[in-house]
Amino acid sequence: MVFQPLPYAFDALEPQMDARTVEIHYTKHHRGYFDKLEASLKGYPEYWKRPLIDLLTNLNDIPETVRMSVRNNGGGLWVHDFFWRSMAPGGLSLNKRNAFAAALVRDFGSIEKFEKDFKAAAASFFGSGWTWLVRDTAGKLWILSTPGHDLPTAAKYVPLLVVDVWEHAYYLKYQNRRAEFLDNWWQLIDWQKVEKRFLAESWRED
Ligand SMILES: [Fe+2]
Repeated sequence: MVFQPLPYAFDALEPQMDARTVEIHYTKHHRGYFDKLEASLKGYPEYWKRPLIDLLTNLNDIPETVRMSVRNNGGGLWVHDFFWRSMAPGGLSLNKRNAFAAALVRDFGSIEKFEKDFKAAAASFFGSGWTWLVRDTAGKLWILSTPGHDLPTAAKYVPLLVVDVWEHAYYLKYQNRRAEFLDNWWQLIDWQKVEKRFLAESWRED
């Protein structure tokens, strides 16, 4: 298992996401999950060597003594990587003529309605967690939220986009104004990456 580099500089997401928040989020929170996972798996080299996503999608196979650490710290490690890689400096726009955009219109009514629904789900989620856009095995798109660092059910859903709604993701700049953070975060989404995930055979190669 490796601690993946941040795919851009700490200040690359300014002004929507300030450099200090990104630095603390990446070097303290994200790194902390990696370090805690590593410490808890010290006696389990066979698990440390396996792809993290395999552990997270087969939690019942993990010994009970370390299962919660894999779920919480391993989940935090994986989801933060997915989150960082859902954004690009300045964002990359959605091609409204492609199949992914058509699926958004089909399942939410319009692109604007999808945006409204996603932000509403993320803004109203109670406590710390993540709001996702996922596609199910039949290709239908859904918005859902998970608490802590839990992933959407792997047998049912492929994650396409995620936003961190833990307070550490926005509190320094936005304090309690989560809705304002979400409006600004929206401008950072890498829609080309989201579309690629939509078209991919497997979500394990992100
Ligand atoms: Fe976070």
